[in-house]
Amino acid sequence: MRLYVNLDHVATIREARKTDEPDPVRAAVLAELGGAQAITVHLREDRRHIKDRDVLLLLQTVRTGVNLELAVEQEVLDFALEHRPMQATLVPERRAEITTEGGLDLSGEGRRRVVAEAVSRLRAAGIRTSLFIDPDAAAIRASQEMGADAIELHTGEYSNAAGDRRAEQVRRLRESAALGAELGLAVHAGHGLTYENVIPVASIPEIEELNIGHSVVSRAVFIGMERAVREMLGLVQRAAGRSGR
Ligand code: PXP
Repeated sequence: MRLYVNLDHVATIREARKTDEPDPVRAAVLAELGGAQAITVHLREDRRHIKDRDVLLLLQTVRTGVNLELAVEQEVLDFALEHRPMQATLVPERRAEITTEGGLDLSGEGRRRVVAEAVSRLRAAGIRTSLFIDPDAAAIRASQEMGADAIELHTGEYSNAAGDRRAEQVRRLRESAALGAELGLAVHAGHGLTYENVIPVASIPEIEELNIGHSVVSRAVFIGMERAVREMLGLVQRAAGRSGR
């Protein structure tokens, strides 16, 4: 089980004052010291938090790898193709949203063609490619048809669900992860995961990578980035170990 730490919200704090601190690059050094196995950032079209310069500096300084989240849009795709992060995760993007809401829309023929072309260009450039999708059989099958290396299952609905509805969402994630693995896809997960809710997801045997941001950055405000990452890593690795990995 790999823990990738998303540092968008370090940049969100910086952008609250349009200044130069806190710096996501410094945060990345500490996250790696805490055991992060890669650093994830989302280069949004509107550059509301992470800027091009952040990604360029991270690519030069991070010792593990950079997982770049990006929309299927020409300008950010060109950026990824030029600078070649270790992994690109394609995500949907709506300007008015607070965070990424819902997985990629792979329902129409036209949409699928555009996403498939992006996957093929990224893979041709040697970039591992993951598609952020809802835990839904049709989207998983479409991802495989499009030639993606991996899927990242959206855990937002799971994170928002309470009581019996949560168990139902865990079942949905389990079935989706099993289907993804059966189709030969690497299975990742993320969004809305916290120290309180991560264990059932980290216990799903087919999931090999988690992307976690807001909760880790929130805890880092109080106890520091290195410790916050170490605590999350301990939780996910113990859960993964109990499930036999
Ligand atoms: N995975 C993807 C594809 C995301 O877009 C995000 C949010 O940027 C995350 C994971 C991390 O979500 P959170 O900040 O809620 O942990």
